[in-house]
Amino acid sequence: MITRDEAFELLKKYNKDSFHIQHALTVEAVMKWYANELGYADEAEYWGIVGLLHDIDFELYPAEHCLKAPELLREAGVSEDIIHAVCSHGYGITVDCGETIDVEPTREMEKVLFAADELTGLIWAAALMRPSKSTKDMELKSLKKKYKSKGFAAGCSREVIERGANQLGWDLNDLLEKTLHAMADCEDAINDAISA
Ligand SMILES: [Fe+2]
Repeated sequence: MITRDEAFELLKKYNKDSFHIQHALTVEAVMKWYANELGYADEAEYWGIVGLLHDIDFELYPAEHCLKAPELLREAGVSEDIIHAVCSHGYGITVDCGETIDVEPTREMEKVLFAADELTGLIWAAALMRPSKSTKDMELKSLKKKYKSKGFAAGCSREVIERGANQLGWDLNDLLEKTLHAMADCEDAINDAISA
C-alpha cells in the first residue's frame, strides 16, 4: 500500500494551490477522526490516505473530476480499492465535461468521505466568519444556522451533504455535529501540517 508520505508527495505533484492542499489535509484529518470514532482505528491511516488523495485530479482537470483520477493514481501504483474510494466521492454528480460519476460508495469509509468532504468546506467557511477564525469555539446551533442560510457558502451543495447523510443512515444533524467535532479536534494538527 502507498504510504502516507508517498500519498502526500503524489498530491503535491498535481496540486500547487495552497487552498487545495489545505482541503486535502483537512479531509485527511477528518477521515482519520471518523475511523477512530466509528471503530476502524486500525485503518485510520488508510482512511486518511483516501482523504488526502480524494481530489487529486481537481486542480488540473476540474471538468473531468473523478474521471481523470484513476489514470493519475494507477500511474503512481495506487491500489484499486483506493481508486474506487476516490471516484465514489463523486457518485451521482455530473461533472463539467457532461459525464455523471457512477461509482457508488459501498464501504462505510467511502460513505463517510462522500458525506464529510463537501461539509468540511462549509464548516471552514463558517469558521472564517468568526472573530476567532476557528472551529474550536463554534457552536452546533451557529453551524446549523449557516447551513440553512442558502446564500452562505452556496458552492457547498446541501443536496450532496444530505445525500451523504442518507447513504450513511445518519440524521443530518448527527453528520453536522460529528464533522464539526472532528474539525475542532483536528484543527491544530491540520494547521501544523499546513505549515510543515
Ligand atoms: Fe474534496
